[in-house]
Amino acid sequence: MNQYTSDLITKASKYIPGASYFTLGPNLPGIPEFIIEKGYGPYVYTTDGVKMLDVTLAHGSLILGHSNKVISEAVRKQIALGTALTNITKPAIELAELMVEIVPCADKVRIVNSGTEASILAIRLVRAATGKEKILKFEGAYHGFADNLIFNTNYGKPNEWCPYPEASPDSLGVSLSQAKTVLIAPYNNLEITSKIIDENIHDLAGIIVEPVMRGINSRPEFLKGLKVICDKYKIPLIFDEVITGFRVSLGGAQEYFGVTPDLSIYGKSLGAGYPIGAIVGKDSLMKYLDPSSENGNHIFSIGSFHSNPLCSTAALYCLKELKKNGSYEKLNNYGDGLRSGLSQIFEQYELPHVMTGLGSIIEFFFTSGAVTDYKSSICSNLALKDLIGSNMYKFKVVGGGGRYTCSIMHGEKELDWMLSAVSSTLDNARSTGVLNRIIEGSMN
Ligand SMILES: Cc1ncc(COP(=O)(O)O)c(C=O)c1O
Repeated sequence: MNQYTSDLITKASKYIPGASYFTLGPNLPGIPEFIIEKGYGPYVYTTDGVKMLDVTLAHGSLILGHSNKVISEAVRKQIALGTALTNITKPAIELAELMVEIVPCADKVRIVNSGTEASILAIRLVRAATGKEKILKFEGAYHGFADNLIFNTNYGKPNEWCPYPEASPDSLGVSLSQAKTVLIAPYNNLEITSKIIDENIHDLAGIIVEPVMRGINSRPEFLKGLKVICDKYKIPLIFDEVITGFRVSLGGAQEYFGVTPDLSIYGKSLGAGYPIGAIVGKDSLMKYLDPSSENGNHIFSIGSFHSNPLCSTAALYCLKELKKNGSYEKLNNYGDGLRSGLSQIFEQYELPHVMTGLGSIIEFFFTSGAVTDYKSSICSNLALKDLIGSNMYKFKVVGGGGRYTCSIMHGEKELDWMLSAVSSTLDNARSTGVLNRIIEGSMN
């Protein structure tokens, strides 16, 4: 580490709590090992001048890679016209038009600044529309850091959680009164979910679900079954497409699975690296965001940067780029290549595993069983997964944890880089005896 980087990290520790931009468990970040200065395509460059492969991509946001020329050029032109125009802006209008064309459930669109904001609005909206209060979410799902849904996420402490359907907060400072408005069900389990719905039907305002939960795939019958139940009882169904949106296909998971929800929320990939979120849905619900709605029947919703022209421009051009032929072929080829390459390596080391995820959302678990929900995912060998995640940076890969992603700039070279990083990690762990200790530890 050069002096410049070491000084920056010292300064970060002095002025920023923990020199970190986040606090969530169970793998809390330590003091940074490097500082990223710039990014181009699939790579980032540290202040030490080291080139690293990026497989985190701003938590899955940079679907076109870093510093995409088309996006940068369009945003540069918009900067010359103004960066915040305090109104519905031309780029936001054009973006909304394109999203309505692309997304099956979208009659109308509201542009906000993050997935968390979109999630807050979606929940408020279904409560307003139904006059009910409870929201059903799935165990292990994350819908943003707001107080209303930060319960039983994949960042919590499952051994301290209450039984279904009671919600347990994942953060200090969350009001326990909020927990009473949230119901928790196991993912992919229609039987228990239906029972919880039946028992709470008079209070249930909506159901929010990730069509692929983090890296766990939904069973084909699960989303379809949820939709049938929601239609039967007139419960609004919200898809959280912050991860799947514009990544698994242009029309998102709802297009891919052929299940159309009532509302859907977006973030991440939509903005190609610019801070954006969106809530889209059917007129019957989106009218609650219309200030001219009958009898003032609308919810409170405003943000200083909503409908922002810069972020909307980035999103508009991102969708136009993704619409071009070959985008999804590239994303999926890389995803499938990584999934099968990793699987071959794990087989070589005789590590029982399952590969999950969809297209360019790539996930794996070390287990001989199936992974269908959060509880089965944490019964896998997490220490082994952490071993891989925590060693990636030694092989100049940014991104650990196990859920990998890619951009349209990731190709053969990046695939080889990634596979060799994982294989070298396991090789080192085997020769030092660490691998055996972790495997034996999991058997005790
Ligand atoms: C499925 C899902 N929903 C919502 C969010 C929150 O989005 P943001 O980080 O933009 O607030 C995230 C973020 O990781 C997410 O993965």
